[in-house]
Amino acid sequence: MQLVEDPEEMQAVGLRLTQGGASSVLVPTMGALHPGHLFLIQKARQEGAPVIVSVYVNPLQFGPGEDLAAYPRTTKADVQACEAAGVDLLFAPRTLYADDHSTYVGEEVLSSGRCGRSRPGHFRGVATVVVKLLNLTQAAAAVFGWKDAQQLSVIRRVVRDLALPVRIVPVEIQRDRDGLAWSSRNRYLSTEQRNRAAAFPRILEEAARRPDGCVWAAVELNKRPGFRVDYVEEVDGRVCGAIWIDEVRLIDNFPCAS
Ligand code: PAJ
Repeated sequence: MQLVEDPEEMQAVGLRLTQGGASSVLVPTMGALHPGHLFLIQKARQEGAPVIVSVYVNPLQFGPGEDLAAYPRTTKADVQACEAAGVDLLFAPRTLYADDHSTYVGEEVLSSGRCGRSRPGHFRGVATVVVKLLNLTQAAAAVFGWKDAQQLSVIRRVVRDLALPVRIVPVEIQRDRDGLAWSSRNRYLSTEQRNRAAAFPRILEEAARRPDGCVWAAVELNKRPGFRVDYVEEVDGRVCGAIWIDEVRLIDNFPCAS
């Protein structure tokens, strides 16, 4: 596995791959890799092209009071996991932005509700870094998880609206045995919080089977000790939810039954 840290080198390698006729598949991540990420990598490998994984904790997508400093950074383990998963190239830049960086990609409709409401600027940060990663890697396809459903729809819209020459490959949510979706942020949960957290996917899954699902789920979730609902909304045929468990924010979603 090739390890690239320098963005300029990444673009040179990306251009060489494309010019040689090998179109690569990108799996963008913020590291602290877990089985959900590894499943995305497997899906990428099935595309039959060189697989590039990027690991970059993108400061642009974190708000002022958010967890940028605390976000888990497990570089050594990530390198090993990528190697074991058969990744061809790991792109792990130290930074992607000049001190006077001043250009952003802003999607203005799909970004505005749900996570965009409670995390202003978040999707502008995501869209900007994803476009930059695509330009650096020159990937022909990029894999994204349904775990971040709003992120997936924003990226699809950016790709369509700006005519980016990339195919977006969506992958279904991967879950731990208790039903909780794998997430780098699950590391913030104590064992006791983690036990309580399993109610979150259970309630959303049931909501996806009920006609009044979102209202019902919000009431049920708010009854749980330490739970505070940010939103439960049906979007694109999925029941999507975000909650706080004490100080930890979690998101998840399920496709509606009907
Ligand atoms: P990160 O949270 O590391 O997630 C990277 C990719 O893995 C995303 O496409 C996300 O939806 C997917 N993913 C995470 N957990 C998953 C799970 N349990 N099942 C399926 N897919 C899962 O999302 C980001 O990073 C960043 O916003 C990024 C796109 C890299 C831009 O900085």
